[in-house]
Amino acid sequence: MLDYDAEAARYDATRGGLPRAREAAGAVGRLLPASTRTLVDVACGTGFVTSEIGGVRAVGIDLAAGMLRIAAARLGGRVVRADARALPFADGSVDAR
Ligand SMILES: C[S@@+](CC[C@H](N)C(=O)[O-])C[C@H]1O[C@@H](n2cnc3c(N)ncnc32)[C@H](O)[C@@H]1O
Repeated sequence: MLDYDAEAARYDATRGGLPRAREAAGAVGRLLPASTRTLVDVACGTGFVTSEIGGVRAVGIDLAAGMLRIAAARLGGRVVRADARALPFADGSVDAR
C-alpha cells in the first residue's frame, strides 16, 4: 500500500485539489438521505473531501497519522485514528458512514 504518511503533504495538490474534493463531496452528498446530520468519513485522508460535504457534522477517521494531522486542522479536530475494519463508533451512533 502507498505510504500515506509520506504522501500527506503533497496529497491534495497531486489529486486534483479543490475541484476534485468538491466533486467527490457532491457525489457523497447526493447519496445521503436529507435527514443526515452526522457522518463518519471512513478513510478521510486529509479531510479535503470531508470538509466540502455540506450540511452535516462530520468526523474523519484514517489510519495514517500524517493524513490525519492535515484533516484535524480542516475538521476542527474532529478526527480519530482508527482502522476502517474496526470502527470505534457504536452501531446507530451516527446517521451515515
Ligand atoms: C486514496 S486515499 C483517500 C482519502 C480521501 N477519502 C480522499 O478522497 O481524499 C485512501 C486513504 O485510506 C486510508 N486507509 C487505508 N486503509 C485504511 C484502513 N484500514 N483504515 C483506515 N484508513 C485507511 C489511507 O491512510 C488514506 O488516507
